[in-house]
Amino acid sequence: MKKRSLRDLPPQALDGKRALVRVDFNVPLKNGKITDDTRLRASLPTIQYLREKGARVVLLSHLGRPKGGPDPQYSLKQIVRDLEKLLGAPVEFIPDPATGVPTTRRLPRGGVALVENTRFWPGEEKNDPELAKVFAALGDLYVNDAFGSAHRAHASTEAVAHLLKPAVAGFLMEKELTYLGQLLGNPKHPFVAVLGGAKISGKIDVIRSLLPRVDELLIGGAMACTFFGAMGLEVGASLVEPDRIALAKELLATSGKKLILPRGGVIAPSLERASEHRSVAADAIPKGWAVYDIDESTQHDFRARLLRAKTIFWNGPMGVFETPPFDAGTRAIANALVEAGKKGAVTVVGGGDSVAAVAGMEDQLTHVSTGGGASLEFLEGKELPGVAALEDA
Ligand code: 3PG
Repeated sequence: MKKRSLRDLPPQALDGKRALVRVDFNVPLKNGKITDDTRLRASLPTIQYLREKGARVVLLSHLGRPKGGPDPQYSLKQIVRDLEKLLGAPVEFIPDPATGVPTTRRLPRGGVALVENTRFWPGEEKNDPELAKVFAALGDLYVNDAFGSAHRAHASTEAVAHLLKPAVAGFLMEKELTYLGQLLGNPKHPFVAVLGGAKISGKIDVIRSLLPRVDELLIGGAMACTFFGAMGLEVGASLVEPDRIALAKELLATSGKKLILPRGGVIAPSLERASEHRSVAADAIPKGWAVYDIDESTQHDFRARLLRAKTIFWNGPMGVFETPPFDAGTRAIANALVEAGKKGAVTVVGGGDSVAAVAGMEDQLTHVSTGGGASLEFLEGKELPGVAALEDA
């Protein structure tokens, strides 16, 4: 179901109005400094549009997973300076939503305020209607631009959307739903998905959802070793999920020829002994050695398949890419996506580690999702509560 968008609202619905905007500013921090501001930048189009239309912008977000109330290491106060720099405008900080209404009313047209971490209040994760009322009092309309949090039914993503009207999708939310929606709805074929990462368990539902839709599903990362185990191959000391072997067997049996596994891997006795690394075929993994990346022949094979594709979705690294030289496979996939894009393929990267792997290449890809869990749940075909609660178009 298509959702009503911010761009559908007439000027009088915005001019002078307080727009309560749920953003996903759950950014990585180190010693109080943002290490990746992608999520801040991703919401700028919505915020700047509202400012230009004369709205007073009140931002709501969570940060991290604080337990049991306010905790300074998760305070959104830490991001105010960065946000001000990106916006080129001052940002008022509201430490407590319950006493924030006067501040929102004092904001000038085009002014911006940021409310403290929504998860500092226990009702947030319980989707408490009472807390939602407190949030709703801070705005005259609601805009949800937090695609990355849309899989959470929380007071600031779900309950509040029922209290404040209009309740519409921001531009980032809209873009995410459009590109990810295309993958499920009408992808151009050949459609090739690449899934990596450590565990099948977290990806099983997305594998099941994508298999009928894709022409090929390329598997990398430690997850591939569970499939090797299911094929009866020696996996040495590789990370394997013994309780998923049966599932891997079932997927191999039912997927036809769509599941494509690595031809070989880069192995080492341990990550500490990375310097001893060498490449072996998938059926020649020695006892005591573990696979940490896809090997070069697999890189070539995967690249060739990706260059034939018209639509590509990628989630999850091919190896332990934080530890060179085991980053080579992941980098090769990132480069192949860029190459395929130049030949006209739609290239979509979803969530988490694979986003870090394409840092700096974003403008050469069709879409890099800001949602980790949210993009996977969307592709699993699940309804995201934060999206469902918005008005239909
Ligand atoms: C994310 O980083 O995936 C979102 O911000 C959601 O965070 P959460 O997993 O803590 O709900």
